[in-house]
Amino acid sequence: MSRLLPLIAALVLVPMTAIHAADAPTVLITGANRGIGLELARQYAARDWHVIATARRPAQAAALAQLAATHPRVAIETLDVTDPEAIAALAEKYQGRPIDVLINNAGIIGKRNQPLGRLDYDDYRRVLETNTIAPLRITEALLPNIAASTQKKIVTLSSSEGSITEVDSPRAYWYRSSKAAVNMLMRNLAFDVRARGISVALVNPGPVDTDMMKGVPMPLQKPSDAVAKVIAIIDRVTPETTGRFWDHQGGELPW
Ligand SMILES: NC(=O)c1ccc[n+]([C@@H]2O[C@H](COP(=O)([O-])OP(=O)(O)OC[C@H]3O[C@@H](n4cnc5c(N)ncnc54)[C@H](OP(=O)(O)O)[C@@H]3O)[C@@H](O)[C@H]2O)c1
Repeated sequence: MSRLLPLIAALVLVPMTAIHAADAPTVLITGANRGIGLELARQYAARDWHVIATARRPAQAAALAQLAATHPRVAIETLDVTDPEAIAALAEKYQGRPIDVLINNAGIIGKRNQPLGRLDYDDYRRVLETNTIAPLRITEALLPNIAASTQKKIVTLSSSEGSITEVDSPRAYWYRSSKAAVNMLMRNLAFDVRARGISVALVNPGPVDTDMMKGVPMPLQKPSDAVAKVIAIIDRVTPETTGRFWDHQGGELPW
């Protein structure tokens, strides 16, 4: 009987893997209920990909629900990226299902207007949990799914604010350092998983007109334009170019 077990397991697992390998690719996006995440879900759905769109409060994600109603390949899953049990439960649910592209998109900027002398360190913990720790924890949990896919890509939405070289004035201690740290985590990861054919990319979408940028006085891109550029970058990522910090304008950003 014990010799038959691997055969039985193969027969159970192969159809699921085969269906999705022969079918359209699958992308999993965190924070897909609004902003850049929602637009990523829309554009991958328009390409007819399978989209696993996660949100921490799907009941309040009306625009995402509308997308799923018109695109049967869009599945909505509940995920607070700072909740390790929720991450484990999602990985368990999708065990055996290849995920071609994981997009760590969910992010927060932290409280605005924190002058030196009144910095809120609890806020820093929340920013680090969301922007830095969560992308690695989710990647770790879903690594078997990514390794089992055809495209094998891990993408994290970073920011030019995470470029240490580009800092020449003070602002946003928490956000800037959380993005610089996730850059390091992902570059490190890139060399850990390269031998398995997995590619890792950090992408700066540039300034985009989302809730995160409300009231920021600078020219902002439409989410549809910015996300089209982000997806074009993701399409070009390969194991040869793994671990790079891509800018929305096409080049690379300095660390
Ligand atoms: N907009 C820009 O100009 C810009 C520039 C550079 C980089 N980025 C990066 O791009 C990514 C998306 O930004 P955005 O502009 O779309 O921001 P946004 O409009 O503020 O949306 C943030 C998304 O992250 C989700 N999120 C936050 N905390 C979460 C948690 N604990 N669990 C699950 N989801 C959570 C939010 O969900 P809720 O609705 O539940 O809060 C929302 O879906 C971020 O990583 C950001 O740092 C943005």
